[in-house]
Amino acid sequence: MISPPVKEGGIKPPRHGGSDEVVRIFGNSLIGKKLLDFSISINPLGPPSGLMETLTRALKTIPSYPEIDAKTLTGEIAALHNLSPRHIIVGNGSTDLLFSLIPLLPHKRAVIPYPSFIEYERVCEIYGWHILHVPPADTDRFALDTRAILSNIVSHTTLFLCQPNNPTGQCLESEALESILDKAEKQGTFVILDEAFLPFTERPSAIPWVSRHESLIILRSMTKSYGIPGLRLGYAVAAPGIISRWKSYLPPWNVNALAQAAGIYCLQDGGVHLKKSKVFIYEERQRLMDGINRLSTLHSLPSEANFFLVSIESETLSADDLYLSLGKRGILVRHCGSFRGMGNHHIRIGIKNREDNQALLSALRDIVSSTPISQAEPRQDVATIS
Ligand SMILES: Cc1ncc(COP(=O)(O)O)c(C=O)c1O
Repeated sequence: MISPPVKEGGIKPPRHGGSDEVVRIFGNSLIGKKLLDFSISINPLGPPSGLMETLTRALKTIPSYPEIDAKTLTGEIAALHNLSPRHIIVGNGSTDLLFSLIPLLPHKRAVIPYPSFIEYERVCEIYGWHILHVPPADTDRFALDTRAILSNIVSHTTLFLCQPNNPTGQCLESEALESILDKAEKQGTFVILDEAFLPFTERPSAIPWVSRHESLIILRSMTKSYGIPGLRLGYAVAAPGIISRWKSYLPPWNVNALAQAAGIYCLQDGGVHLKKSKVFIYEERQRLMDGINRLSTLHSLPSEANFFLVSIESETLSADDLYLSLGKRGILVRHCGSFRGMGNHHIRIGIKNREDNQALLSALRDIVSSTPISQAEPRQDVATIS
């Protein structure tokens, strides 16, 4: 049985970013108000220009069925990664693929390092898997514990890894990742490596490794990288044996025509939009972090992604307080209380455009300066979950 995430505060934080739970938490006060949503973590530049026109043109294809197995898009993705289409499966977002994959894996045992994307735990729970939760190496930065992960790679299990990890934005070093994948391959342990945010970093993808790792399954989210969460689009890369079995359990038209058209369009610019996004994220993340670090009780933690954690180092300000005070100003951030092993001292911020980021900084400055000063003591860290 999975114990609930550690929660010390008064509010029940949303399980995900986005504004779905605003009414539950804030009542009707925010209805109709323009919200600045830093709780989601998608490409801050949004979709590539021209996508809306492409979608408008694609509307006329709606009376027909979409291409079976998203054949053209699959071919484009395969070409992008220098692989055969037999290595690729496309779905309605990477989470959709994750949920169709889990019931097909042979052993109902998972190793999940935390904190991480909470849907790993949820999907395993739904299918009645036994889960081994691996605590982080520390609770200052919540870095994943490579040694503990390695020692828990045993046969008949599936390991979940997120590179860079959500909510920290931190990456495992290539050597660590390689040793994990090598050991997993020797043990016949499946590894689900979620590279949803990798296109925003300078790190190389592990996709080329699928040719030599039979048990490696890599998830990619076009939703995140191209800023199209409403359309839903993702893909997975794995050995052809895994992909063909996986496809045989999916309906033929599992991705709609508009999402297919959007995916094909996004891949056509040779990576220009992603490169631009990466530069923007790098500069804006640094600017936002510097601004936050100038506030006495807030401290941003290192990240390589389009989001980062902020640690609240105060006796008089909790994640609840900050979440609620920002929310009242129409600003949403991700309260980290719903991540396993995290409590009431962290929020996650997804980078947005310059103007919005500036508005967040001003609001944080306001809140921090109006909070009674406490002795900035090293806080008692949250308990780990057994
Ligand atoms: C690590 C990670 N993977 C995948 C997703 C969801 O991706 P998609 O929209 O492609 O399902 C999220 C959403 O927050 C995430 O944090």
